[in-house]
Amino acid sequence: ARPVIVDCDPGHDDALALLLAVGDPRLRLLGVTTVAGNQTLPRTTANALKILARAGATDVPVAAGCARPLVGELRVAEDIHGASGLDGPDLEGPTGEVADVPAVELMRRLIEHSAEPVTLIATGPLTNVALLLRSHPGVTANLRRIIFMGGSTERGNTTPYAEFNIVTDPEAADIVLRSGLPTTMIGLNVTHRALATDEIIAEFRAMPTRLGAVCADLLTFFAGTYRREFGFAHPPVHDPIAVAAAIAPPTITTTRAAVAVELTGTHTRGATVVDLHRRTGAVLRTDVAVDLDVDAFWRLLMTAVRTLGGP
Ligand code: BDR
Ligand code: CA
Repeated sequence: ARPVIVDCDPGHDDALALLLAVGDPRLRLLGVTTVAGNQTLPRTTANALKILARAGATDVPVAAGCARPLVGELRVAEDIHGASGLDGPDLEGPTGEVADVPAVELMRRLIEHSAEPVTLIATGPLTNVALLLRSHPGVTANLRRIIFMGGSTERGNTTPYAEFNIVTDPEAADIVLRSGLPTTMIGLNVTHRALATDEIIAEFRAMPTRLGAVCADLLTFFAGTYRREFGFAHPPVHDPIAVAAAIAPPTITTTRAAVAVELTGTHTRGATVVDLHRRTGAVLRTDVAVDLDVDAFWRLLMTAVRTLGGP
């Protein structure tokens, strides 16, 4: 199985991303690191521990990372993910323990000790990942690829042109995209196609496990906030698509392009500038997701959640 690390800010869709990473047999989840984004760092870390415990994956190490972006102040997404960052399901109960090393150190150790090159999947702001690349440039030798959910080839969701994960820490995204490593960008242009319809939620609800009900509760809460804040009929499930992209064969189609992050725009800070028509002559380093096999994606996620037990 392909070794992966998930760096995340759970977050409803991050929680589903973790379940896919734990439950799909083609992936081996080496560790989980958390970052501030959807909620503050203590909350995203607690949420990662809770969801892994509920999935019966308490053997996966979890380390907490950066509590704020590299530059500027943190602005959480409480309007979408609630006060806990994971409002909706009842996730009380015993959870695992957070590692006694920071996220960047856990990532370094896992990458350096892996027999096979590691795929790093980031589903939150890229603060931890940027810090890892800056503090331990040697890790790139054993990094296969960085797959991140963020940006868009089209418009944004936090400002007219910027997506939440990128605009939360544009400097971090800039560092990652200019690192020279192969990257895959899973942007809103594809994630907005993975909508959790009523039928999808009912399918989770019908599973004979508590985890199925947790997923249904997560998606029901997410549906409510997406309806209220964006007027979406069904909520888009962004983050697990980044995990699906690490599974071969992938359920996404990509095109190679140069991607830059707008750092100084008057109205567009945090926008991803994707050179789809190859006008700039910049090196093409990013595989940009442009299409998604929606049914195959839901089958992957459903199958993974079905295989997971937990308390
Ligand atoms: C991204 O922002 C967060 O709210 C989600 O978890 C996802 O990673 C979508 O813009
Ligand atoms: Ca996220």
